[in-house]
Amino acid sequence: MAMNLNIASISLLLLLASTAKVAESGIFDIQKYGAKPNGDITQALTRAWKEACAAGGTSKIVIPKTTYNLGNPASLQGPCKGPIEIRLDGTLKAPANPRQLKGDGWITIGRVDGFTLSGSGTLDGQGATSWKQNDCGINSKCKLLATNLRLDFVTNGLIQGITSKDPKSFHINVLGCKKLKFQHVTITAPGTSINTDGIHIGRSSGITISDTNIGTGDDCISLGDGSQDVTIERVRCGPGHGISIGSLGKYYNEQPVSQIKVLDCTFSNTMNGVRIKTWPANPSPGTANDITFKGITMNNVANPVIIDQGYCPYGQCKSQIPSKIKISNLNIEDIKGTSATPEALKIICSKGVPCQNVKVSNINLSYKGALGKAKTVCENVRPTVTGTQNPPVCPSH
Ligand SMILES: *[C@@H]1O[C@H](CO)[C@@H](O)[C@H](O)[C@H]1NC(C)=O
Repeated sequence: MAMNLNIASISLLLLLASTAKVAESGIFDIQKYGAKPNGDITQALTRAWKEACAAGGTSKIVIPKTTYNLGNPASLQGPCKGPIEIRLDGTLKAPANPRQLKGDGWITIGRVDGFTLSGSGTLDGQGATSWKQNDCGINSKCKLLATNLRLDFVTNGLIQGITSKDPKSFHINVLGCKKLKFQHVTITAPGTSINTDGIHIGRSSGITISDTNIGTGDDCISLGDGSQDVTIERVRCGPGHGISIGSLGKYYNEQPVSQIKVLDCTFSNTMNGVRIKTWPANPSPGTANDITFKGITMNNVANPVIIDQGYCPYGQCKSQIPSKIKISNLNIEDIKGTSATPEALKIICSKGVPCQNVKVSNINLSYKGALGKAKTVCENVRPTVTGTQNPPVCPSH
């Protein structure tokens, strides 16, 4: 009997605890704010956000499993009184005509501490029309179109389960964020779509991206200046341009990039696998250090591993002036699979600031095409090489 009593009192405690939790968290279902299937929810969503943000406790905005239009940019700004979750199970559609969506963000979350976006829903940017119109692939001064999801100065965030589809430009842009996790996210657009980077991170720290599938027309993940303590693991990339640090050194006074790990990722039919690119002739010096690429599988990747310090597309720079971005403490480890070109591994460092403390271990990359055997290309670097070397790594050093 004593045992039964114990169980009863424990259940009572649990019941009390869960009631308390329900009482302190508010539910903000957008249907209560006038959202109708296939209708425009710009007002419903912004009103739900305003009230949730002001409510305090944990607030949850619910977007049920149906299709809605979000015909205008939604700028959902904090600071809020408590943590906020958007539970997205429905599909949100952007207007197909890019002129109907002003500005560079479709959905923007700004200055929130404690933000969750979760669910099985989709952000559909309907970008196909804009890819035909924009020339951002070849024109650096092109007009920026709306990114599906912008996270600006968000701290302690979680993005889980959702899908981003066919954005007009980037899928997700992360700026000035701290402690943000992406888990089980799906990012999808055709390989031929223009400027559709998957997740771009800049000036942010404590970011992890794990168990995420990315197929898109540009970089699967790109890390701009000021990216620090970023871990990318178990990400599948393809089609796309790979996972890229940079480009770095185009602008004055860029912030250092450091503590970047790309672990246990798979690249299939991508232009690049793991990459670091820096411009030559930089307006000011910079650094990229403590970078690990480990446990990577390449399936038919054009440039499986590429460090390129002479990145200068469309002749936009004085390529004879060496890069001033110093790369150091770089580990390239356990890289296997197939290369689509003979150049399986390229480490082209700057003549001005050669790469320092580069370790390369266990490389097993094969090339089966008609252009000869797999090889490595190295400049201005003297790596420490251990383990398997297929092909031989920087043999002339
Ligand atoms: C390199 O990869 C090939 C083909 O995937 C495999 O047969 C071979 O055992 C690997 N070599 C080493 C040393 O891991």
